[in-house]
Amino acid sequence: MMADDQSGQGPKKKILVIYHSQGGTTQTMAQCFAAGATREESITVVLKKAEDATLEDLLQCHAIGIGSPEYFGTMAGMIKDFFDRTFVAAEEKTIGLPFVIFVCAGNDGRGAIRQIERIAEGYKWKKVQEHLRVVGSPTQKDLDRLAELGQTLAAGVDFGIF
Ligand SMILES: Cc1cc2nc3c(=O)[nH]c(=O)nc-3n(C[C@H](O)[C@H](O)[C@H](O)COP(=O)(O)O)c2cc1C
Repeated sequence: MMADDQSGQGPKKKILVIYHSQGGTTQTMAQCFAAGATREESITVVLKKAEDATLEDLLQCHAIGIGSPEYFGTMAGMIKDFFDRTFVAAEEKTIGLPFVIFVCAGNDGRGAIRQIERIAEGYKWKKVQEHLRVVGSPTQKDLDRLAELGQTLAAGVDFGIF
């Protein structure tokens, strides 16, 4: 999943999946999302904790999935930190980047989605799918939806429809 594969037809397109997770729930969601994306074999999926993701990861990707818990009505601090670290250098270079957000929350989650969307607007990224919000522990159905969302993003990038 993490390999930078070459197919003989040029480098594969990449999807970057960043997440933060204190209790493990968002990590599980991010892994499902990434696993779904890897069903599209012509896409390379890079799954990273937000704190480990770099400007280069962002500049090299063709789409981004952002996974965050809602903490105190907004995104996790490390997701914000990723944006803080990359915005100035990336803002002119990632215009139109397809993005999708998945959030887990104890009882709401809309604040986290809203705040990430506002930042994505600053980068001029392109919303290509409805964002996914899970309240409470994810059910198998939620995890299946996450995998589908990851696959849809990857397929859209692969076929160049986003
Ligand atoms: C410090 C803290 C703040 C939280 N604030 C909110 C909140 O504002 N709204 C909400 O719906 N859930 C809130 N929660 C619940 C988390 O969003 C929820 O437990 C989530 O599944 C945690 O994801 P994680 O296991 O990936 O860390 C909070 C949890 C913590 C630890």
